[in-house]
Amino acid sequence: MQNNQKIIAIFGAGGFLGKHLMRQLTKLDYRVKVATRNPFLKGYLKPLGNPGQIELFKTNIFNPEDVKQVLKNCDLVINLVGILYETRKQKFSQIHAKFPYLLCNLCNEIGVKNLVHISALGVREGHVSRYMQSKLEGEKNIQNVFKSSVILRPSLVFGPEDKFFNTFASIAQFSPALPLIGGGKIKFSPVYVGDIAKAIVKALRLNNSEPKIYELGGPENYSFKELMEILLREIKKKRFLIPIPFSLAKFQSYFLQMIPNPLLTPDQVEVLKYNNIVSGEYPTLEDLGISGETIQSILPKYIYRFRTGGQFG
Ligand SMILES: NC(=O)c1ccc[n+]([C@@H]2O[C@H](COP(=O)([O-])OP(=O)(O)OC[C@H]3O[C@@H](n4cnc5c(N)ncnc54)[C@H](OP(=O)(O)O)[C@@H]3O)[C@@H](O)[C@H]2O)c1
Repeated sequence: MQNNQKIIAIFGAGGFLGKHLMRQLTKLDYRVKVATRNPFLKGYLKPLGNPGQIELFKTNIFNPEDVKQVLKNCDLVINLVGILYETRKQKFSQIHAKFPYLLCNLCNEIGVKNLVHISALGVREGHVSRYMQSKLEGEKNIQNVFKSSVILRPSLVFGPEDKFFNTFASIAQFSPALPLIGGGKIKFSPVYVGDIAKAIVKALRLNNSEPKIYELGGPENYSFKELMEILLREIKKKRFLIPIPFSLAKFQSYFLQMIPNPLLTPDQVEVLKYNNIVSGEYPTLEDLGISGETIQSILPKYIYRFRTGGQFG
């Protein structure tokens, strides 16, 4: 281990984005301190670096002493902590707004040089969704408290282990139809997880005179319906695409939210009412020097497992 390696603290590294980011950071020789609720379940992160390059810390993100222990000696911090739905114990406002506030204060105290925070595309004043409201509040907390921060707002992120394509492909295994919420007209700019990881690495190296908020979308916009059609083509399945009006989707979501890992919540229906594409008001992936991968170049590499004959189907 060299002493001149930069040390990075990552919160939420055990998730989808974190795993892809970890490979890029360790290849670049960073030392990584990972804050996680359960280090014993995150052992799969360790082989992504050299022996000793990745350290796991059992962390309650609302306990300042736990957070300080992770931040100690770190130059750079990345916050990937996020949830898609609320539970009895996990509330959007706590995870997306209160934690960034606490983190920024502690970053100031410790003397961290740069913080990269992952928000979400589509945040704006007055959004009905509590997910979006909390993400916006988190951004404001960060900008008010810690000046050397960069906020990245990804659209729908795809790649191996993504929740979007894998979930709908799983449904297509047993269901003769896939739902088109609100008629499937809203648009996304799906962005490859590897490109988000590259953007985070670039953002870590930005200086203070460069923009603070980036909207990260892929090279093309697609409607929800087009995404379902691409998916069905790739997994070689014919399924009915059934338009579901927002009102009916909302009604169904009141029941669906009660199952563990709910497929749809009333709050998500609110998110799905608006396009999730880059607005043109902020710099993008291209401004970070990254030309995004297309769905067509990446999706076939991991979604084949849902074809009847698998990779040879
Ligand atoms: N995936 C997308 O399409 C997408 C799109 C836009 C924005 N984003 C944002 O990008 C970030 C990363 O997304 P992802 O897809 O990688 O999410 P993910 O796979 O669900 O991972 C989220 C991470 O958050 C951590 N976390 C959740 N609740 C926590 C709590 N109470 N205490 C401590 N840690 C907690 C988990 O850490 P541990 O389990 O290790 O403790 C987990 O590793 C999130 O902020 C998300 O909102 C994602």
